[in-house]
Amino acid sequence: AKKAVLGPLVGAVDQGTSSTRFLVFNSKTAELLSHHQVEIKQEFPREGWVEQDPKEILMSVYECIEKTCEKLEQLNIDISNIKAIGVSNQRETTVVWDKITGEPLYNAVVWLDLRTQSTVDNLSKRIPGNNFLKSKTGLPLSTYFSAVKVRWLLDNVKEVQRAVEEDRALFGTIDSWLIWCLTGGTNGGVHCTDVTNASRTMLFNIHSLEWDKELCEFFEIPMKILPNVRSSSEIYGLMKAGALEGVPISGCLGDQSAALVGQMCFRDGQAKNTYGTGCFLLCNTGRKCVFSEHGLLTTVAYKLGRDKPVYYALEGSVAIAGAVIRWLRDNLGIINSSDEIEKLAKEVGTSYGCYFVPAFSGLYAPYWEPSARGIICGLTQFTNKCHIAFAALEAVCFQTREILDAMNRDCGIPLSHLQVDGGMTNNKILMQLQADILYIPVVKPSMPETTALGAAMAAGAAEGVGVWSLEPEDLSAVTVERFEPQINAEESEIRFSTWKKAVMKSMGWVT
Ligand code: G3P
Repeated sequence: AKKAVLGPLVGAVDQGTSSTRFLVFNSKTAELLSHHQVEIKQEFPREGWVEQDPKEILMSVYECIEKTCEKLEQLNIDISNIKAIGVSNQRETTVVWDKITGEPLYNAVVWLDLRTQSTVDNLSKRIPGNNFLKSKTGLPLSTYFSAVKVRWLLDNVKEVQRAVEEDRALFGTIDSWLIWCLTGGTNGGVHCTDVTNASRTMLFNIHSLEWDKELCEFFEIPMKILPNVRSSSEIYGLMKAGALEGVPISGCLGDQSAALVGQMCFRDGQAKNTYGTGCFLLCNTGRKCVFSEHGLLTTVAYKLGRDKPVYYALEGSVAIAGAVIRWLRDNLGIINSSDEIEKLAKEVGTSYGCYFVPAFSGLYAPYWEPSARGIICGLTQFTNKCHIAFAALEAVCFQTREILDAMNRDCGIPLSHLQVDGGMTNNKILMQLQADILYIPVVKPSMPETTALGAAMAAGAAEGVGVWSLEPEDLSAVTVERFEPQINAEESEIRFSTWKKAVMKSMGWVT
């Protein structure tokens, strides 16, 4: 059969905490042509520890690329039309590997992992000056970010120590690990990261856009193991193997930045909220760094080209969103697959006074409270699994409300609506609840894969690729679905204030 002729195509890897995807878009219309997804295992070797196998992550990327290419061939689409590949990734998750053997020296320590709490406690006693970390990095000292995870690996894993001494160790977040492997690994792999991922390590100065010597000294991390920091849109290297061998990798963004780009939030004050494993609300603050008074992070939003300006964002990070649904499936077994949650919640349409605070990894924004742990409260003999399912969905919405309130306070101008994306936005009950609890409309693009779209846009727009225009007049209009608030403001406030009571009870469980 004759192969369909299309405009240039761009592929995107979306490597999240729960799954890996590869998606291919038409660069002229932003239409999604094909994709493949693979779930990723998470290991919990001890209470509070969360690890993943870097090799499994890499293999899942290859598998998704191969399967997507097969699907494209079945659609009579010639894969030689794929002109560039972008990478977006779960941020902060830390890998240290051996550049001689190409082998990881330990499992990836996932962003959610809590093992570094004592490292954090010790470091916090010797911070030189109140604002030292926040003013340089935009971040609070927390188990969340990469620097403390690298510190832990250096302190506890002999192979890592030895490899550093012998100059064999490389550190990277998942983007670096993947790009190094995909561009050849031990055979000339490129060791790089982009400014958005670098800004989540706590070793990166978000003003000078360079690794910071003082920060590296503070965390006692040798600078020789760090990747080169590049912009989010430029050719880093070429695919070394597989169906897309020779295609340039030319886009790289942490997944939350990628979603901001994919949602076309290019202007000051535009914001998006992505419901993945966690939930992350980012608001573009333009060319200036805005520092939060209400528990939000200051982070690099994107820098779309070597000579292009850097943009910043304020971020509200929630550790547990989709992860609570996975927990109900894997740990409690009250559902067999994640989409069953909607059916359960629909059966009751209320939590019947049950509140679920899923503080599995402490609480992130706006509290930054490592002592918090998950609680389910307000139970009666009447409570059943449907109420708990409903309370889990409501928890995601309440947590978003907390960060939206903080964002509105920091920005001064309240958001008039919330742009959303991510896997959970397919859940209509969740979206309606979100509109009710925020008491503003929730707006969802009809193509919800905005993370991958953002990475594809960055890759397609890179110098030397030039198949995607980021000029405002060329960006296709996004068709959306809207959810309007349906309950009254008073009812919404009562539910939210009860949630806050539950949050207070979740704190201080660990001392
Ligand atoms: O900061 C962690 C974040 O990047 C993880 O994203 O999509 O796996 O929830 P996700």
